[in-house]
Amino acid sequence: MSDLLDRPAVASDRSGAAPDPTWWRQAAVYQIYPRSFADSNGDGIGDLRGITSRVGYLAALGIDAVWLSPFYPSGLADGGYDVADYRDVDPRIGTLEDFDEMVAALHAAGIRVVVDIVPNHSSDEHAWFAAALAAGPGSAERERYIFRDGAGPDGAEPPTDWTSMFGGPAWTRVTEPDGTPGQWYLHLFAPEQPDFNWANPEVRADFLHTLRFWSDRGVDGFRVDVAHALTKDLSDPLPTAAELDAHPRGGDHPIWDRDEVHEIYAEWRRVFDSYDPPRTAVAEAWVERHRRPRYASAEGLGQAFEFDLLVADFDAAAFREVVTDSLELAAESGSSSTWVLSNHDVVRHATRYGLPPLPARAGSTESDEKQGRAWVLAGAPEDSLDRAAGERKARAATLFELALPGSAYLYQGEELGLHEVGDIPDDARQDPTFFRSPGVDKGRDGCRVPLPWTAEGPSFGFGDATAHLPQPAWFADHAAEVQDGAEGSTLSMYRAALELRHRLRTAERLEWLDTGSDDVLAFRRPNGWTCITNFGSSPVPLPAGDVLLTSGPLDEGMLPGASTVWLAS
Ligand code: GLC
Ligand code: CA
Repeated sequence: MSDLLDRPAVASDRSGAAPDPTWWRQAAVYQIYPRSFADSNGDGIGDLRGITSRVGYLAALGIDAVWLSPFYPSGLADGGYDVADYRDVDPRIGTLEDFDEMVAALHAAGIRVVVDIVPNHSSDEHAWFAAALAAGPGSAERERYIFRDGAGPDGAEPPTDWTSMFGGPAWTRVTEPDGTPGQWYLHLFAPEQPDFNWANPEVRADFLHTLRFWSDRGVDGFRVDVAHALTKDLSDPLPTAAELDAHPRGGDHPIWDRDEVHEIYAEWRRVFDSYDPPRTAVAEAWVERHRRPRYASAEGLGQAFEFDLLVADFDAAAFREVVTDSLELAAESGSSSTWVLSNHDVVRHATRYGLPPLPARAGSTESDEKQGRAWVLAGAPEDSLDRAAGERKARAATLFELALPGSAYLYQGEELGLHEVGDIPDDARQDPTFFRSPGVDKGRDGCRVPLPWTAEGPSFGFGDATAHLPQPAWFADHAAEVQDGAEGSTLSMYRAALELRHRLRTAERLEWLDTGSDDVLAFRRPNGWTCITNFGSSPVPLPAGDVLLTSGPLDEGMLPGASTVWLAS
């Protein structure tokens, strides 16, 4: 085997070395959707003890960190992204003691912990929102949210015609304490998710408190939900929906990606940097690409999700363009790039690649388009799905992703080659996007179905009871137990890739190699680690070098279509 593998592993906390403040730059971060990962007490809902019980699995997978989607008390109107108390654990998911035990177990296994912070909105079950309703118009309590009088006679019309991200109006009318119909509050998402007023210093102070609370409990970093919407210009007269849509998103849009949002993150950065090692953060910001580096700067959150690979078709030119652009943007901010193929909001990549490409929608902005495409796919018809082709391409894309400089965010279940679950009965669905777009958008439940750990059992080893979302029969073939140690399984490929990645990790650069084919991409990292992906359908010859790993079998020494190989050259 190659000399490359004789080198010692890149210093990481696995070796018990001193904490490395740059650990995040090329980390493999595994997203856990806590309700659907592992259920320790047989109530059908995944929980923190379930995560603790699977630390061995996570360590064997070879990831550097986990990111936990929200596990806080919640009205569960949006899968936990409606937080009722930012500094506690949902009793259905565990306790703060369970959290501490989980963090200790993960840290003992050399795995960092990133938690989700949802600062744009709370749950309508948050104590502040209840206080705002009780205190009435003009009160200090209402000033923590965005309340306005309605339009028209008696204020019976919403203040504007804006629609929410989940469909339906972005304003909901409240009943005043005296029982009369009253003011309206803004919610960019579901009505159960009232938007905070970030112009209010109390809101700002409370989030600093929350960041310290979790940092003090040993959390290593934060994933920041809807990071581009916190600050808003809601001065009168409010624009119409059409005016909002037409407004350029260059920093002074009334809602999205306003320049002053970065004042908040500069404040957060001072909190992060007061810890050793500094706490990290990654922004979920669906913004124009040239504006992303602001979120990723060292004075701000430090990293921002790159979703362009996620929305790209499985296509050599598209992948190359995204990688080139993204590395340039990362260099601009001094951050490392981030790569994402799947998460809890989009159709799993095995399924996306098995579907015919979606026609682009006309007349939408770049960022709208990308988010829309990813979400709309949830409604794609199942009969157009080629399952095997999708899985094959997903494995090839994953090996491509894991060879890139930067950090990779993996979503639970992709290491099992899971497809989206398409046939969830309507009455079992949970996602508000389904209810608010009646039937048009199937919603995001299909990627949130509890994981199959074993081929049998009431919920394929997820727990001792039926899972909170129905699992399909084909989950048995994908169970972790079935794939464990099986040659050629997707799980084996992920483990091998992540283990090799630890040893091969090198300077954050790549050099594109000439392949002589429009369908084949090849790049070399500075240490000779070379990744070649054949996006086409006919086999291509391999250059000289030792084969380290492939996404599928080679064909008489040739790299078949929809396949990736790692070489030491
Ligand atoms: C983010 C989350 C998504 C959630 C939304 C509202 O986009 O990833 O799951 O529904 O924010 O909080
Ligand atoms: Ca449980």
